[in-house]
Amino acid sequence: MIDFMLNGQPCRSEASPETSVLELLRETLGVTGTKEGCASGDCGACTVAIGEPGPDGEMRYHSANACITPAHQLNGRYLVTVEGLAHGDALHPAQAAMVACHGSQCGFCTPGIVMSLFTLHEQQRQAPAPLTPQRLEAALGGNLCRCTGYRPIRDAALSMNQHPENRPLWLDAAAETKNEAKAADNDTAFLQPTTLAALTDCLKRHPKARLVAGATDLWLESTQRLARFERVIDVTRVAELNAIDEATLEDGRSGWWIGAAVTYSRLEPLLEEHYDAFAHLLHRLGSQQVRNRGTLGGNVANASPIGDTPPVLLALGSRLRLVGPEGERELPLDDFFLDYKRTALREGEAIRAIFLPRPEADQTLKVWKLSKRREDDISAVLGAFAYRLKNGVMRDVRLAYGGMAAIPKRAANAEAALEGKAPDLATFQAAREALSNDFQPMSDVRGSAHYRRLSAANLLERLRLVIAQADTDSPREVMLHAYAH
Ligand SMILES: Cc1cc2nc3c(=O)[nH]c(=O)nc-3n(C[C@H](O)[C@H](O)[C@H](O)COP(=O)(O)OP(=O)(O)OC[C@H]3O[C@@H](n4cnc5c(N)ncnc54)[C@H](O)[C@@H]3O)c2cc1C
Ligand code: FES
Ligand code: FES
Repeated sequence: MIDFMLNGQPCRSEASPETSVLELLRETLGVTGTKEGCASGDCGACTVAIGEPGPDGEMRYHSANACITPAHQLNGRYLVTVEGLAHGDALHPAQAAMVACHGSQCGFCTPGIVMSLFTLHEQQRQAPAPLTPQRLEAALGGNLCRCTGYRPIRDAALSMNQHPENRPLWLDAAAETKNEAKAADNDTAFLQPTTLAALTDCLKRHPKARLVAGATDLWLESTQRLARFERVIDVTRVAELNAIDEATLEDGRSGWWIGAAVTYSRLEPLLEEHYDAFAHLLHRLGSQQVRNRGTLGGNVANASPIGDTPPVLLALGSRLRLVGPEGERELPLDDFFLDYKRTALREGEAIRAIFLPRPEADQTLKVWKLSKRREDDISAVLGAFAYRLKNGVMRDVRLAYGGMAAIPKRAANAEAALEGKAPDLATFQAAREALSNDFQPMSDVRGSAHYRRLSAANLLERLRLVIAQADTDSPREVMLHAYAH
């Protein structure tokens, strides 16, 4: 049984474990304003807002793709759909602005776009900030429109605050916790433990259950491959998996244990403060809807060769803390990826946290993602490069790539060619040659093997140029020098 609030009204419904919020709305509840376009999180037509109380008790709404959000994750949450926005006859500012700016033609994408604007409007109310082009792109980058064109939609976003502040009053309802998440000892098919002890118990009793966090990968198995899940353990309510804790490892490195269920949106401020390059990558990972729900734990456990964060974490020398029926263990991320989609996770084990080392003063991290589209696209090749520059030579060089092998993988030969050397033309020439022994990439829809090899080598050349540029007053001179070779 799922208990939640739908547009301010209590709602109770039965659903099989793999039911999505979209199916629940359209097929069980007959609430059909939310549309289905792609059923894979790409088009945004199904965007809804999900609310939960923040630490101050105020409701916080995030946008989500209903097509790949498990219906059971609504338990105890506030769901807002396009039907709920108007207050009596008065339109919500997101709707009024779309009408005034002619932001809709066929209307198929419109409910999703309105819900993304609604979430943006709520965030603006709680923390007013200038609507920069980057913020607008982030808010709307996960919504495709095939006929209106984006300018009127953008105009609507920019003019929402000129419309009367008509909001349904229930939006601010203090969260009543009568809709508690289901306890782990409740033997349902969709388990929602809230503590590490309860999670461990679930893992012990159901070692073959599927784990789910944001579901932005797992739910595609249901919508694209019609998989049925006998039993699911939802890790998103486990308090310990939602924590970000400062820590110092035995080897003396300090940093943060990032709980496996921490979403990208929650991780963003930490990365923006400490790792520019990683934060920039995050802005290009999926859409706002995906970042609101997707987690670092899910990205690592999914073990996709083209997942964005594993190469970065490999370059930074990250570690994992795993939890299972036998207790906890730690291992370097270097030992985690075994083969295509095969990891060191044992049956009944989950990732508890991922260690992100604190950047050190003389350390540099560069990350470059190559994809066909800037917004909401998976990489063809991704290079993540960490090193220190000490007395004119490179030290602790760690180069990791995505899209170049069956697993996210370090380039051991290229690393050896750079380690302890000055970052000059000859060194990088040798590193590019060595790189050809590190990978035998495959051809697929994202890029041919030839493209991948060439791009991976070009990213190393880019690294050389960036280092040289930091060492000279004249970037242009460096570029010209580079083109001459
Ligand atoms: C439209 C769209 C765009 C995307 N774009 C990108 C992109 O640009 N870059 C990118 O890297 N990815 C992208 N993804 C993939 C996805 O968003 C990420 O991989 C995300 O990090 C997965 O996290 P999640 O919490 O949603 O994982 P889930 O889907 O919940 O789980 C993924 C896998 O990990 C397992 N799992 C989850 N949590 C744990 C845990 N704690 N311990 C052990 N196993 C666990 C699950 O069983 C499942 O096998 C995209 C997905 C969509 C739908
Ligand atoms: S239907 Fe396209 S994102 Fe959900
Ligand atoms: S109005 Fe037709 S798809 Fe956007």
